[in-house]
Amino acid sequence: MVSRVGVVGGGAMGTGIAVEFAVAGRDVAVMTRSDRTGAAALERIRRDLELMVDTGLLTTGQAATAASRVRTTTSLDEVVDGSDHVVESVPEDVALKREVFTELDKRAPGDVLLATNTTSLPVSAIAAGCRRPQRVLATHYYLPAHLVPLVDVVPGEHTSPEAIDRACRLLTELGKTPVPFKVDAGATVGPRLQTAMISEAIRLVSEGVTDPLTVDRVIVEGIGRRFGVTGVFDRLDLAGLDTMTAVLRAQGRPVPGVLAEKVEAGHLGRKSGRGFYEWSPRRAAEFDDRVARHLIAQLPRRPAERPAVSVDVGVLGPFLEAAVDEYESCTPEAPPRCFALLVGEQSAEEIAVRRLHFARNVRDEDPDASVEFAEHIVPCFGAAYANRRRGFWVDATDVLRAHRAAEADGLELLGSIHLHPDWHRIGPPGERGLRISQRPTPMDTYVFRQTGWPLNMITYLERRGGRVYSSLGAWAAPGRAGECAELDVRLPLT
Ligand SMILES: NC(=O)c1ccc[n+]([C@@H]2O[C@H](COP(=O)([O-])OP(=O)(O)OC[C@H]3O[C@@H](n4cnc5c(N)ncnc54)[C@H](O)[C@@H]3O)[C@@H](O)[C@H]2O)c1
Repeated sequence: MVSRVGVVGGGAMGTGIAVEFAVAGRDVAVMTRSDRTGAAALERIRRDLELMVDTGLLTTGQAATAASRVRTTTSLDEVVDGSDHVVESVPEDVALKREVFTELDKRAPGDVLLATNTTSLPVSAIAAGCRRPQRVLATHYYLPAHLVPLVDVVPGEHTSPEAIDRACRLLTELGKTPVPFKVDAGATVGPRLQTAMISEAIRLVSEGVTDPLTVDRVIVEGIGRRFGVTGVFDRLDLAGLDTMTAVLRAQGRPVPGVLAEKVEAGHLGRKSGRGFYEWSPRRAAEFDDRVARHLIAQLPRRPAERPAVSVDVGVLGPFLEAAVDEYESCTPEAPPRCFALLVGEQSAEEIAVRRLHFARNVRDEDPDASVEFAEHIVPCFGAAYANRRRGFWVDATDVLRAHRAAEADGLELLGSIHLHPDWHRIGPPGERGLRISQRPTPMDTYVFRQTGWPLNMITYLERRGGRVYSSLGAWAAPGRAGECAELDVRLPLT
């Protein structure tokens, strides 16, 4: 097992490679040319880790542990000393890399793999000064190294198959996607494809066909979006190999033999069931679904138009009074319970609450409630709900009565309102971990989904400086899997 890694070069790629190994639990020594570049490398690593925390990829604790695993040095001996694996990422200069590898080879024990991150240089040329070139290979990462999964694994002329296997195993352990190549092509597939695109882009601009901004837009807003989920050959099969042949001809480009042969044989891609790949209807449907989901995820969300809730202070008053009474008299063993049904009217723009009906809690009496709490709620939402004072099970006849009375007045049953106390402050010590507010708890979300009521209000009560305050939240019923959407609450004052 590789537990310590040496990285030579602390630039754009070296720092990302260091982050990758440190996050995966390896100690990393990064060699830089001076203390100043060492400090810059550590600062870059800190920023990379910070962003991983901001985006939820790592916890603060995990990032701190990863940061503590990386140290910098200006001594090649220190990088090699105790390292089970060394990655070189100095500038793309064959003489410089050869010199680094000659020194690494002298210092590192024979079983240590020496990997170069070269983009375009032959591994054999880099390993030319090594006595043990069988352990020299390229592991070519893509910028930013800690975020792009692919790593090309390339042998030199003398690299042993065992070295390639070991490198692939290590990268797989790290969660990367190693792609081993058989020949030392001097430039791996990714860079060659990229170079082809870059050359074409430069040609388009220098021929005056377009400008750099337009090229970048075409990539970012167009073909680049699809590259996140499709390759080249599945795209070709999708477009149709006959169509692609026609496009190449129209552009005055030669049609490669392999393409012409397939078209000749009637293998036109997906539409004929076979092209570069085999396409069953199921595979085609799965492909479409995957592409569409990927593209949808990149589109900006349009916030859904939701109705606002309008509720008169006078309508809410009795509920708030009852809620404060419950709050004042509750104990950690007996949480406050207050619940009412909301009745009113709704349109696309507004849900207007006209009145409320208190309803009885039959959590203790209703056998259905006991079964639901024992079999579903307690296993899903925690043992705290085994407390029979916890949770509200509204009497079904009260719901029916409220429903009928609403109908008689041309209104409808809109939903419910209930109380959340500042339980993270006043509840039993074991239940103070989760901050309570006017937002739905997981249990609320479950209940709101079950009832499907369009309006679910929560009043959150907390004591501050001797006074009890209420914050009101209003929530639409969640969909099958999502969260509850928040609704604006308006209190008409005139
Ligand atoms: N930038 C990319 O997109 C990318 C992607 C894949 C691979 N690569 C390859 O990675 C390698 C490094 O590229 P980069 O983008 O990180 O360059 P970079 O210039 O950001 O970093 C190179 C670092 O190496 C240091 N350095 C120079 N000589 C050194 C020596 N003798 N000992 C120790 N450190 C030394 C430099 O001070 C610099 O900090 C190159 O071979 C490049 O082709 C780059």
